[in-house]
Amino acid sequence: MSELRFDDKVVIITGGGNGLGRSHALEFGRRGAKVVVNDLGGGAFGGGSDSSPAQKVVDEIKAAGGEAVANYDSVEDGDKIVQTAMDSFGRVDVVVNNAGILRDKSFQKMTDEDWDLIYRVHVKGSYAVTHAAWPHMREQEYGRVIMTASAAGIYGNFGQANYSMAKLGLHGLTQTLAKEGQKRNIICNSIAPIAASRLTETVMPPDVLKNLKPEYVSPLVAFLCHESNTDTGGLYEVGMGWIGKMRWERSAGAGLNLNEVTAENVAAAWEKVCDFSEGATHPSNTQEAMMGPMSNLQNK
Ligand code: NAI
Repeated sequence: MSELRFDDKVVIITGGGNGLGRSHALEFGRRGAKVVVNDLGGGAFGGGSDSSPAQKVVDEIKAAGGEAVANYDSVEDGDKIVQTAMDSFGRVDVVVNNAGILRDKSFQKMTDEDWDLIYRVHVKGSYAVTHAAWPHMREQEYGRVIMTASAAGIYGNFGQANYSMAKLGLHGLTQTLAKEGQKRNIICNSIAPIAASRLTETVMPPDVLKNLKPEYVSPLVAFLCHESNTDTGGLYEVGMGWIGKMRWERSAGAGLNLNEVTAENVAAAWEKVCDFSEGATHPSNTQEAMMGPMSNLQNK
C-alpha cells in the first residue's frame, strides 16, 4: 500500500500540545501536512494558559523537517484558530477537534460551572472551530473533520455526567455534518480513544497506562482524514492498536393496536420491544428510522 501523504494539506489539531493531540500533530507533520498546533496550555481541569506546549510540538515537527505553526487561543474562539491557518498557509483541509478537559463529579455535587465549562470547551469549542472552517471546506469542496467522543458518552460513566453529555453530543454533531458535508466532499467522523495522558493518569494503574500509547490512536485519525477515505458519519473506538466501529441497533420493535395504545399494553409488549434476538435493524438516517413507526399505521 502506498504511503498516505498529506502534502499541501493544512491540518488544524486542537489541544495539540499534549497527549493525543500532540501525537496527532506529529503524525500529520511526518506525513507532509502543514500543521496548526493549537493549545491554550491550561490545566487538565480548565483554567490557566501557557504557550509552551503548542510551541514545543511545533518545534518537534520542524526539527523532523516538517511545517507547523502554533496557535494559543481557546477553541471557544475557533475563528481565530482558523484565521491562523489562513494567514500562515492560505487554506484549511482538516480539523481534528481534540482539545479537552475534565470536571468529574457525581451529578449530585456538580455545579452549573462544571456543567457549562465542559460544554464550552468540548461542544462549543468543536462547533466554533469547525464552523469557522466549514465555509472554506465547502468552497474548496474538500474537508475532513474529526470529533473526539469518549466511551463515557457511549456507555455512561460514574462522575462524568457533564463529560458524557458533551462527548456523545459531539457524535450527534458528526452524524449531521456527515450528511450536510457529503455533497461537497466534507467527511466527518468521531473517535472514542483510550490513551495514557494527564486526563487518564489518575484513574488507571501504571502497568495499564504503559500500553495505552497515544501513537496507537493517531494512525486511525490520519486514515480517516486522508483524501482516500470516503467513509463518513462513523464512530470508532480505538486504543492499544485495536479499532472497532460502533453503530446504532434497533430491535424489531412491537406495534400496538392503534385503538389500544395504553401503558398496560406497553407493559405487555415490553419483552418484544427490548428483544434484539430477531429482526433487529440498523437505520442510518431519519427516513429509514421512520419505517418502524410507519409499519404500524394499519394496525387497528
Ligand atoms: P490532555 O490533557 O493530555 O490534552 C488535552 C489538551 O487540550 C491539553 O494540551 C490542553 O491544554 C488542551 N486544551 C484544553 N482546553 C483547551 C481549550 N479551551 N482550547 C485549546 N486547547 C485546550 O488530554 P488527552 O487525554 O490527550 O485528551 C484529548 C482528547 O481526547 C480530549 O478531548 C479528551 O476528552 C479525549 N479523550 C481522551 C481519552 C483518553 O483515554 N486519554 C478517552 C476519551 C476521550
